[in-house]
Amino acid sequence: MIPNLCMIRDVSAGVGQRVTIGCWLYNKRSSGKIQFLQLRDGTGFMQAVVVRNEVSDETWEAASRLTQESSFYVTGTIREDARSAIGYEMSVEELKIIQIAEPYPITPKEHGVDFLMDHRHLWIRSPRQRAILAIRARIIRAIRQFLDERGFVLVDPPILTPSSAEGTTNLFHTKYFDQDAYLTQSGQLYMEAAAMALGRVYSFGPTFRAERSKTRRHLIEFWMVEPEMAFVDHEENMRIQEQLVSHIVRSVLDDCSAELAALGRDVSKLEKVTAPFPRITYDEAVRFLQENGHEFSWGEDFGAPHETAIAQTFEKPVFITEYPTAIKAFYMKPKPERPAVVLCADLIAPEGYGEIIGGSQRIDDPELLAQRFDEHRLPRETYQWYLDLRRYGTVPHSGFGLGLERTVAWICGLEHVRETIAFPRLLYRLYP
Ligand code: 4AD
Ligand code: MG
Repeated sequence: MIPNLCMIRDVSAGVGQRVTIGCWLYNKRSSGKIQFLQLRDGTGFMQAVVVRNEVSDETWEAASRLTQESSFYVTGTIREDARSAIGYEMSVEELKIIQIAEPYPITPKEHGVDFLMDHRHLWIRSPRQRAILAIRARIIRAIRQFLDERGFVLVDPPILTPSSAEGTTNLFHTKYFDQDAYLTQSGQLYMEAAAMALGRVYSFGPTFRAERSKTRRHLIEFWMVEPEMAFVDHEENMRIQEQLVSHIVRSVLDDCSAELAALGRDVSKLEKVTAPFPRITYDEAVRFLQENGHEFSWGEDFGAPHETAIAQTFEKPVFITEYPTAIKAFYMKPKPERPAVVLCADLIAPEGYGEIIGGSQRIDDPELLAQRFDEHRLPRETYQWYLDLRRYGTVPHSGFGLGLERTVAWICGLEHVRETIAFPRLLYRLYP
């Protein structure tokens, strides 16, 4: 055990004290008799100052030998320093090298995206990537807090499944001994079973889609939180979603101001994200697009440019409701007085970040659900268990899926979802 080992995150408690930090060298400046070491220890960044005539020859030499990403223990006194980004600095007394790093491939100069993606295992050490991953973790905590406090029970659906939940075009196929299996696209169908057992439930885990689309919003492996609620209708479903999303944004604003600043995020835009959110119907969205010069007819699905055009007229996320039945998933409940549309909503983030939530009220009538299996050519044997949920005490129920990476991209203000997860799985990228 190292005596008085301290993390950069906690240095404010160590002012005036002699502490040791285990760290890596992020950057170094030197002016003859003083060396300024930029330390990083995973919890933060901080400057340590080595003064020639205040340290031993060994410590001075050790500091001189440090290369970028060399690992070491540094011991010294913490001082307040108004000029420092974190408000503190260390006056170095002693420095013990763990390893002098080989020439580090990622230097402070600009690198291309492919190079950085090939070195993702090192790239995540940079201040910007650290900030994103810290915000991602805070978002996950905010989601769990929100749902746990409201009595939602966490249930974990399987990853290996015999069937599809969201259409058969982008399924990942694998063998399950001598049967065919697929990696889960969504835990929803299982969460519906769980909601009938536990009332209000949620799952939170990785989902997989073999999407051939190479866009800045698609990952092959992404994380989704999927709440499912018995006795909740379409309207209440949207109310819960807007409360969840505003809670997420508030939590990040309150707890991650340093990270948002490191990313240069315009927080005034996030401050506006408070419930309730505006709602427009699919019909209204179509009319808006047609009146604003888009070629678009009723019955088509929105592409990214359409979503962006609609979202740009709002400062908050916007619900687009009641899509045509024909373009939505088989399990969505038709609107009773107009069965050509379903009781669903997509939540579109502001600033062009696209759909972050897809949700709906589910079909509760066994006959209609069985009819949908036939229309969508879904084998009855595979989905028999799902039909059972409507045969033994069916109830109105609703749920939604929030895509974690798109939410992180929006809140962090990122160009591309590839930076929102530590090791993204992208079309044509499985390394590292
Ligand atoms: O709209 P989706 O396909 O809905 C479902 O899967 C439902 N079964 C959810 C439910 O009701 N329980 O996906 C939900 C969200 C999208 O709004 C989007 O944020 C995200 O998941 N998403 C993706 N994120 C990254 N990469 C992809 N390829 C994504 N596909 C969907
Ligand atoms: Mg969707």
